[in-house]
Amino acid sequence: MQRNDVGPPRCEFALISFAVRGFNRKGAGPVPVARLDGRVALVTGGSGGIGRAAVVELAKEGADIAVQFNRGKESADAVVERAQKLGRRGIAIQADVGDPKACERLVREAIRSLGRLDVVACFAGHPYRDEEWNKPFEELTPAEIRRPLDVDLLGSVYVAQAAIPAMVERGRGSLILTGSTPAITGDAVGISYLMAKAAIHALARALAQAYGPKGVRVNALALGNITTGPMEAVSDVERRKLAEEPALKRWGTPEEVGRVVVFLASDDSAYITGQTLVVDGGYAMR
Ligand SMILES: NC(=O)c1ccc[n+]([C@@H]2O[C@H](COP(=O)([O-])OP(=O)(O)OC[C@H]3O[C@@H](n4cnc5c(N)ncnc54)[C@H](OP(=O)(O)O)[C@@H]3O)[C@@H](O)[C@H]2O)c1
Repeated sequence: MQRNDVGPPRCEFALISFAVRGFNRKGAGPVPVARLDGRVALVTGGSGGIGRAAVVELAKEGADIAVQFNRGKESADAVVERAQKLGRRGIAIQADVGDPKACERLVREAIRSLGRLDVVACFAGHPYRDEEWNKPFEELTPAEIRRPLDVDLLGSVYVAQAAIPAMVERGRGSLILTGSTPAITGDAVGISYLMAKAAIHALARALAQAYGPKGVRVNALALGNITTGPMEAVSDVERRKLAEEPALKRWGTPEEVGRVVVFLASDDSAYITGQTLVVDGGYAMR
């Protein structure tokens, strides 16, 4: 497909959608057309809490899905099965995103199995560990400082390096990176993690500028507290305290993040790039 240099990118699916959505064709009834019909998405961290929800929301909107996992094969297989039950094609692929060669293989296998790559959403992240998170800065070991940099930041860099050429070749694509609200507001805890996530926001802006002229959009999510497995390590008292922080006075759900991923993946956000979308119930606005 050729890129249109003056207006929004031409999109065969959006045009089809406009033509048939809600119309009664003789004898056929309304033809539902989802926002991502015919598209292929790769979700890293697809075996984790938010990644799984993103896979399901993308599949509900019509996307075929490649689900990356590291150790959680069972979880990845289960979410692929859910996507298949929704009528989509799906594949689970093992890869350690800290390894650039593994990221190249991940993207290659996704394209070989599903034929193309339109969307990449990066949720692979170093797992939350209470003791690392709350450790005084001066006591952090070099390994504790490196882990979020290796997985969250460099993992996103390597996946982006592997995936962007395929998007550039098609003249379109949406890359969605995952940052965090405390990377914007600052915090006294989780400092290794915050450094990695702050760099993610810079990476999104840089890649948006570098690849926007080639039709590739790059945005980042800044997430607040989202109820996933790792958060079970947080005590009840702390969980209630954290729920009081945002304006909406509650934690977010993985599904609420998944629906923002669909927005950034689809042509509904065709003129949005280089942005950090804050999904935090109104915490970072203070
Ligand atoms: N939950 C929150 O409140 C929150 C807030 C802000 C930002 N975030 C960010 O959102 C993303 C997802 O968070 P989550 O809560 O869904 O976490 P999660 O449930 O712990 O999922 C983490 C995912 O990362 C994968 N992963 C870990 N190390 C990896 C590696 N070396 N290579 C490849 N994959 C690896 C895991 O794969 P396996 O399980 O297969 O090993 C898992 O799929 C993370 O980037 C996190 O920092 C979350």
